[in-house]
This record gives sequence, C-alpha cells and structure tokens, in this order.
Amino acid sequence: MRIPEQVIDNIMQKNDIVDVISEYVSLKRVGRNFMGVCPFHNDKGPSLSVSPDKQLFHCFGCGAAGNVVGFIMKIRNLDYIDAIRFLADRVNITLDTSSNKDTEIEKIYEINIQAARFFYNNLKQNSEKIKYLLNRGLDIKTIQKFGLGYSIDSYDGLINFFKKKGYDEKLLIKAGLVSQKENRIYDRFRNRIMFPVFDHKGRVIGFGGRVLDDSKPKYLNSPETPVFKKGTNLYALNFVLKKGTPDALILVEGYMDCIKLHQHGIENTVATLGTALTKEQARLIKRYCNTVYLCYDSDAAGRTATLRGIEVLHSEGLNVKIINIPRGKDPDEYINTFGVGEFKKLIEKSLPAIEHLIYASKENKNLDDPRDRSNFIKEVIDILKILNNEVEVHSYAAKIYELTGISIEVILDQLNKVKNTKTNNWNNNYGNRNNNIGGNTFMEPGYKKAERKLLMLILKDDDIKEYILQKVNREDFITPSYKKVATLILENGLKEVNDIIKHFEEQNEIQDVALIFAEEDLTEMDFETVEGLIRTLKRAKIERQIENIKLKIKEKERSNDFNDLLNLTRQLEELKRQLSLL
Ligand code: UTP
Ligand code: MN
Repeated sequence: MRIPEQVIDNIMQKNDIVDVISEYVSLKRVGRNFMGVCPFHNDKGPSLSVSPDKQLFHCFGCGAAGNVVGFIMKIRNLDYIDAIRFLADRVNITLDTSSNKDTEIEKIYEINIQAARFFYNNLKQNSEKIKYLLNRGLDIKTIQKFGLGYSIDSYDGLINFFKKKGYDEKLLIKAGLVSQKENRIYDRFRNRIMFPVFDHKGRVIGFGGRVLDDSKPKYLNSPETPVFKKGTNLYALNFVLKKGTPDALILVEGYMDCIKLHQHGIENTVATLGTALTKEQARLIKRYCNTVYLCYDSDAAGRTATLRGIEVLHSEGLNVKIINIPRGKDPDEYINTFGVGEFKKLIEKSLPAIEHLIYASKENKNLDDPRDRSNFIKEVIDILKILNNEVEVHSYAAKIYELTGISIEVILDQLNKVKNTKTNNWNNNYGNRNNNIGGNTFMEPGYKKAERKLLMLILKDDDIKEYILQKVNREDFITPSYKKVATLILENGLKEVNDIIKHFEEQNEIQDVALIFAEEDLTEMDFETVEGLIRTLKRAKIERQIENIKLKIKEKERSNDFNDLLNLTRQLEELKRQLSLL
C-alpha cells in the first residue's frame, strides 16, 4: 500500500529521532548532538551520534547512518512500509486503508487468484500437459499444493474468462496478465505451464510460465505490477512458514528445484527464481532464521550467483553454507538421477561459505607450482575480504596455513595491503576510523566517498557548487543512490536532508544519503581537494567503461567479428587516452 506523502511527513514530525533512539540506546547530550553506544556493532564507544537538528543518526565506528525510519528499519529488521507503520503506531496515527490505490491493489490480488484457478482448471482438463509434469517427477498432490496450471494456446482465453465475469481490461493489464500492443490486447501467457508466485503471506502476486518444448524464453514471468516487485520476494516462503519458523532455509534458483525439494520432504526450501539475490530478500530471510544453505546450479552462472549471494547474505549477518551439486546438475535433475537420499548427503556435506570458496579455489591448482600458488593467494585474499570479523579472518588464515603451508602472517599481510589500498583513497581524516567492526563503509569503493563529498559541497556552498557543476553533471555519478540524490538536487531543486531522504525506501540507500550530511561536520575543503574529488569520480567512470569494453572485446574475439573488434579497440584506446589526461 502507498501512504500519502503528507501522512509520512506527519509521522516523521511526530517521531523525533532523539526520542525514538532513546528507547533503544541511552543518549547523553554533547554540544548540539547526543551520543550513545551504537547498537549496530560491538561498540566500546560511545560512537553513535544523533543530531536533533538534522534528525539524523551516524555511527563513527561502523558507518551506520540514517533518519528515524532508517533507524527503525535497521534495528527492527523491517522494510520501509512496515517501519512507517511502526512509527505511525508509536504516535497513535491511524493509517487510512480505504484509499483508491488500496482497492486497486485488492482487485489485482483477486484477479490473480482467479487467474490461478483458471489456469489450474485448464490443466485439469488437459491430460497431455499433466503428463508433462508427471514425467518431470511431480505428483498430483504437489501439483495441487503449488497450484500449477496451464495457459491455453489462445490470444484471448483469459481475456474472455474475465470479460464474462465483468472485469475491466485495464485491471487485467495492470495485473500483468494481459499485454497491449498498439490498440490490440492479448493474453500474455499462452501455451505454458503456469506457476503462481505467492508472497510470504500466501497471496498470489504474479506468475511464471514455462514452455513445454525448447522454445525461448523458457520461462516468461509477470512484469512488475503494483503487487509484483522483482527481488522482494522468495518463492515458496509461504509454504515454509506454514510449517513453523525454520531453523535454516535452503535457497535454490528455480521453480522446479524448489517444488521438487518440497515434494521430497525438504520443506524449508525457497527460490530466488533466477534473479540475483537482493539485500531485501536477505532481510526477509533474516526475519525468520540465521542460516542459509545456498544451493545454486553448478554451472558458471550458478557459481557467480553463489559468490554474490554469499556477499549479500553475509552483509546482512546471516550464516551461509554451500550445498555443492557435482556433475553440472541442478537440484531437480540431481534428485531425478540419484534420489533424494543422495541429495540429503550433499546437505550434510555442505561447508561454510568461506571454506567452500577456499576449497573451490584450491581445486585444479598445484600449490607446489609458484604461479598456481600465487593465484591461489590472490583468490583467497579476495574471499577473505568479504569477512568483517578479525577472529574469523584469523581462523581462516590458520586453515589456509594447514592446507598450503602459507604462513598466517603472509596471508594477513597481503589482506591488509589490499584493504589499505582500497580505503585510503579518500580517507583524509575521519574515514580511517571506519575499521572492520561494523563493515558498512570500509568496503566501499573510493569513488563513492568522492561522490558523497561532492554532493555535500554542492549542497553547502553555492560558489563551490558553481565550480563543480562546470565539470560534473548528474550522469557522472556512479552509485545509483547518489545519482538519484544529484537528480533531486539539480532537477527538483531539493536542498534539505529531510526532503531528499524521503525519496528513498531502502535502508542502505537511506544510509548513503544520511552519510552525505554526516560529511558536512567532518571536512574542511579547498579547491585543490575539490579537483581531486572530481578527478576520482571521472577516473572511476572511465575505468568502468574500460572494463566494459574489455569484456565486449573478449566476446567479439570469440565470434571473430573483426569490424566490431576494431571499433571496440579504438574506443578502448580513446578511453585510455582520456584516462591518462586526468
Ligand atoms: P533455469 O534455466 O535453471 O531453469 O532457471 P530451471 O528452473 O532448471 O527450469 P527447468 O528445470 O528447465 O524447468 C532458473 C530459474 O530462472 C528463472 C526461472 O525462475 C527459473 O526457474 N528463469 C529462467 C526465467 O525467469 N526465465 C528464463 O527464461 C529462464
Ligand atoms: Mn531444472
């Protein structure tokens, strides 16, 4: 549901940040601000500063920052809307639930559930399609539990079904079930096996439809709708929660993987449905348990997804274990071939994420060979960088020593070197205090800090603003949240922190914005420093473009596309030239 802006403003005004944070942390007045022990890291502090003027908090120890909504999201593990609700409740504001938008959303839910029934009934009448599912090893009970269905091979089967019931076609389009091209409308899903997607409360929010042959796309999904947002949901979480709060979740990629595991009694499985795991999904998991078993496909794409998944899950404080499926299969195929008993053995054999990555890196390497050895160390350092806990780093360094004989000192030394070159770019005064305890800002790329300082200067000083804007425009910003801030300042003319921050609903983005305003108190700037900041940003941008072109060149080399290759090489040279001039 959407809460009107005025209502949110009212809620924010009545929830003074000092009052709210005082309910969790004891605060003492120090000058204009309040200080307390930070609840987000193991603070020997007080490192948490709360500004009543700006209505922001900021921890000098771990870099946590935000407004009152951000604080509640972080400390209570809530999403944006639920944090707003919580704060509304705190000051006895009742949220009007009968707005137009709400009734539209309710209608879309209703349409979705009816569509799911329509697809299910189609399937029931089509034994050939049922046979497809049975051949893939599903049984009738499972088909019923997951509400699987079939969309008939027609451009208006679903449209007619809803027309007879008197539904407005505009709503069908909004629900993502019907598409529109010029003046024609037609069923989006045709001749596909249909998988209703449920949210964690069990409401149907969208669909995935699979072809029955080898045509493309293999799966067609609902577009984003008012109730279906990519990266916010976990498939089958509703079924998991029905069984009670899980000790751990198993995370797989596909519909079939997830359904197959449930059918075989592994009922704590959820799926990300082929998209990269998001922070929001990690937080959704964190609401229910602390451990995740990642079980992605064992192909190259799956391995990349695993790496990224580990990073996201770790940064939300979850324990991660990796279920490694051998022989290039996905969980569904593995169970079909070897049976669920063998799969359960894989679960038992799963390793903590970092250990898994270290072993995977060691595979295919001869550690007596100097080159392999040095590659191994490089990879291992990249892995250990993910960790933000000294004790853990030490214990892994010890493990690597056991595996390889490479001394613990050498490993820690290398790791520190990498970390230092990463953080020293722009930490002239206070940044270095962001050591590895809370892990919020110390892993960030150098350009991000430069972006933050530039935005702070643009907001603070009109002369410097003029100067900066001669050289930088909003497209030069790389970090999405900072690009958005630049847009809000330059195009919408916003200046005040609270006007800007309310355009952000992700906890980490709220933090990014708040950190701009934390910079203000911490830095003195001259034009030379400003030049340096601009250069950092421009360099980073060109470096990213260069990386992109290099990737493209690799692709083209494979396809022997000489014209394109020549073109790309020229572009690469030009970028390198530009870089050398900066
Ligand atoms: P996979 O290609 O691994 O498919 O994609 P799968 O789940 O093993 O499917 P089967 O076993 O061939 O039926 C994993 C997930 O990625 C999403 C789907 O959610 C799928 O389950 N995906 C895949 C898409 O959304 N679109 C596609 O075209 C392919
Ligand atoms: Mn599969």
